[in-house]
Amino acid sequence: MSARARKQAWGGVAWGGAARGAVAWGAVAWGTGPYADALRNGHGPLYLRRNDGWLLPLEVERWCAGASAADLSALRRCEGSVLDIGCGPGRLVAALSARGHRALGIDVSEAAVARTRHLGGPALRRSVFDPLPGEGHWGTALLIDGNIGIGGDPDILLARVGELLAPGGLLIAETAPVDIDERAQVRVEDGQGAAGALFPWARLGTPALLSYARPAGWRPVGQWTCEGRPFVALRRRRTSSHSPDPANSAADTSSQRARNTSADSPVTGS
Ligand SMILES: C[S@@+](CC[C@H](N)C(=O)[O-])C[C@H]1O[C@@H](n2cnc3c(N)ncnc32)[C@H](O)[C@@H]1O
Repeated sequence: MSARARKQAWGGVAWGGAARGAVAWGAVAWGTGPYADALRNGHGPLYLRRNDGWLLPLEVERWCAGASAADLSALRRCEGSVLDIGCGPGRLVAALSARGHRALGIDVSEAAVARTRHLGGPALRRSVFDPLPGEGHWGTALLIDGNIGIGGDPDILLARVGELLAPGGLLIAETAPVDIDERAQVRVEDGQGAAGALFPWARLGTPALLSYARPAGWRPVGQWTCEGRPFVALRRRRTSSHSPDPANSAADTSSQRARNTSADSPVTGS
């Protein structure tokens, strides 16, 4: 089944048309309430609750800690300037900055942006769907910790990331550790009665992500698992509607291109 057909099979919900509104709902849901409180405190418990009651624990403590071996396995593959989309409390942006990368975190949550800046990482309170600095010039985009779910429609998110990257730029995404292709209405809650607003979210395993990415022109260039966390590296096609403007480019493609992605095992999922 094609990605688009599968999308329509999801209860007939017109996700594509709702995406912009979905983003606004997500911004409200992540920007306030239990998520903001958990980031300020540095710990959970915190969950994504599906509207059928199913709970997905959110690893706030890990997000608020330093970069782990799995995080570093992704960061080692970054090329040029790095945009961390949904940076949360900022451990990746801080680790990248400490390693000399030009990096920017964006997040709709003020608490996330404040924490990222406190760690020494540059961050903006912005949705990925808002106008962003360096559009069309980023060397690498990160969608880590399930952030491929942002907006609830992977086709639209992948298209947006494609606009943000330079031609041939790299997307590194963490996928779910199970073979899943799910969209659901969820809310963030603390398990003790505090809950945010409902918003659309998606969870994708590696095969599902590849099935969305390939028809959209992304080339899989790496696939690995570290500490039980699966990652995929996808390269954006080289043609672009953006005209290169090196003077204003946020991308620094000279020194750090072509890192380890070629050393990965071949991508087999489909
Ligand atoms: C699953 S958490 C990931 C946390 C993060 N990667 C970390 O290291 O802590 C999702 C993050 O994405 C942010 N987010 C949700 N919708 C967003 C959007 N449209 N644009 C940017 N960030 C968004 C949330 O505020 C939250 O910090």
